Amino acid sequence: MTAAVRVVELRGKRIEITDAMRTAILDEMPEIGWIADASLRAGVTDAWAAAVASSSFTRIGDMKPSGNYDSTPLRHGTQADHIRSVTRMAVKIAEEMAGLFPEFRYDRDILIAGSLCHDIGKVWEFDPENVARWKANPRAVGMPSLRHPGYGIHICLTMGLPEAVAHMAAAHSGEGELLVRSLENTILHWADYTFWRVVEAGGQFADSDPWLKGG
Ligand SMILES: [Fe+2]
Repeated sequence: MTAAVRVVELRGKRIEITDAMRTAILDEMPEIGWIADASLRAGVTDAWAAAVASSSFTRIGDMKPSGNYDSTPLRHGTQADHIRSVTRMAVKIAEEMAGLFPEFRYDRDILIAGSLCHDIGKVWEFDPENVARWKANPRAVGMPSLRHPGYGIHICLTMGLPEAVAHMAAAHSGEGELLVRSLENTILHWADYTFWRVVEAGGQFADSDPWLKGG
């Protein structure tokens, strides 16, 4: 792993990425280790370290475990569990199709990196300080001002991640209906939607939402 401290800037905030921060991210997201390319692996780790440091969260698991800031949370598990599960499902889908179709080609590293980063912008959309500010005056900057795909673009491009990964953060959700998704993003999109739909059908959403005032 990179030993050096990397200094980046997200929304004007100077962030020093240290090895302790990287270790914490790798502890929460061990699937980062599945990425074969060392520079992409380091890039995903640093992007998450910077994303968390740019927010009021101390770890990925501090975020509400839901699809949107105002949607129902999971009964059990964290936001990191969601992202990791979607990544594992995306890999399984790709492996199934590759086993079936001899000419099926996909970029495994991009699939893993993009899946692990798909919800990275939730550090903005789910930040309680932002949510409180937006609720106080929804007509000031919007509510939310940016959904997580929007802020995910900012993080991915600022951190120098590949265009293919930024595309997956940008267009895994409804925003992707306005463009043609890459193969890897198509796999991610359906893995992500499968996760939430099966959670719903399987009764794994919480009965109430303690994350929202009055929930
Ligand atoms: Fe997701």
